[in-house]
Amino acid sequence: MALVASAAVSHAATVTFWTLDDVERTIYFTPNDGKEWLPSVTANSQVNKTVELPADWAGNYRAVPLGEDFEQSMLGEVMFGGSYDLTFYDVSAIVNGTDKNNIKQLWPKGQLGPMSGCEEFPCDNCYWLPDDIQTKATRESNLMTTLGTGFTGIPFTT
Ligand SMILES: *[C@@H]1O[C@H](CO)[C@@H](O)[C@H](O)[C@H]1NC(C)=O
Ligand SMILES: *[C@@H]1O[C@H](CO)[C@@H](O)[C@H](O)[C@H]1NC(C)=O
Repeated sequence: MALVASAAVSHAATVTFWTLDDVERTIYFTPNDGKEWLPSVTANSQVNKTVELPADWAGNYRAVPLGEDFEQSMLGEVMFGGSYDLTFYDVSAIVNGTDKNNIKQLWPKGQLGPMSGCEEFPCDNCYWLPDDIQTKATRESNLMTTLGTGFTGIPFTT
């Protein structure tokens, strides 16, 4: 019994949203085909917001300041439980490269990288064109995502 329980726990996936400025945002999740629909959540700098996702979830999320209404944003793209049991992730500017102040950086929680995205856009460390090779991979299934203007102080590796 204990073995079964710990195996289940180790497969949970999470994304934690760390807001670096004073803006409150709504985070909208868009699942890939066949993956579970997830409700939107809000996040602000008062608390790091952790969202639990199905262990095999794949899709993207965007963050929009409360009261603003635009559909195309900088994206966090994630695939949990991918090939070789890896988590794949990146920041993508493909649909709206002018959205420079919402989704900023993604990296495995508790680690220094590999980090995707940057503190100030535009930068090279994200997807701009469909053939950019920017997707990062990790054995971790817990990711961090920063939102908004500010600095983490973390000496990231990319
Ligand atoms: C969010 O997490 C980061 C990284 O662990 C930490 O430095 C920061 O203080 C946390 N913010 C809050 C509001 O707990
Ligand atoms: C792209 O992002 C900018 C800045 O966040 C926003 O003002 C604009 O409405 C977005 N464009 C679309 C088509 O959603």
